Amino acid sequence: MQIDQQKLIEYYGDAPDDISLAEIDLGHLPSHVSIIMDGNGRWATKRGLDRAKGHVAGVDSLREAVTTSVRLGFDVLSAYAFSTENWKRPKLEVDLLMSLFAKTLVKELPLFHQENVRLKLFGDLEALPDETYRVFMRGLDETADHDGMTFALAVNYGSRAEIARAAAQIAREAKEGLIDPDDITPDVVAAHLYTAGLPDPDLLIRTSGELRLSNYFLYQLAYTEFYATDTLWPDFTRWDMLRAVRSFQHRSRRFGGV
Ligand code: FPP
Repeated sequence: MQIDQQKLIEYYGDAPDDISLAEIDLGHLPSHVSIIMDGNGRWATKRGLDRAKGHVAGVDSLREAVTTSVRLGFDVLSAYAFSTENWKRPKLEVDLLMSLFAKTLVKELPLFHQENVRLKLFGDLEALPDETYRVFMRGLDETADHDGMTFALAVNYGSRAEIARAAAQIAREAKEGLIDPDDITPDVVAAHLYTAGLPDPDLLIRTSGELRLSNYFLYQLAYTEFYATDTLWPDFTRWDMLRAVRSFQHRSRRFGGV
């Protein structure tokens, strides 16, 4: 995506000591950055607050991550907001998250319009509460024609379920004679995932010091560069994104070659 360099320089005003925009090669930026946002609960607990406050603070970080990604010209920013396993959390926390998703999306739609961001959602959305589902559908509908960055949120998402769903769809197509089983290539599988049509992530960021994939993008991350930071998600800023990009730019990506 095109970068407005002047806007970017203004956006990255006063730099902290350890990182600056000058260290970044603007001609070699990742196209798709994905984030496992982790540490909201610990952020709140550390401050003697209810976990819910951590999620509310996490929304601010996510808003900043979207703006930062637009400024840096990423084509896609994706983020893991709620996994198929997160239903195991206390009902009060699940309810809070579901209503936070709906409220936040309504509140942030003007930002999506202003920044020409298209929304995508990955996961089993039909299992979500009515209000959340309705607002999500509205978000998809209202931003469908935007042709700037794609912002994809994984909600009620699990990678194994996604792959099983793709396998079932392909099996149905084979049964109907639409595809020959011998023609099922990795690209065909990719075209049946939620991420169909999007590039695989170049860079995966996980916050809060955990080093797990947590059933996220198991197929899509085959050649993705990882960046793990101890920073808790509500503390993650535009500078942390720059640190992650700097690290990405120092990797030698060989995609299995030499
Ligand atoms: C992980 O922290 C975070 C989540 C499960 C929820 C992610 C949601 C947000 C950041 C809010 C985003 C809002 C919208 C609208 C998408 P955790 O609770 O697992 O933290 P812990 O590991 O410290 O307990």
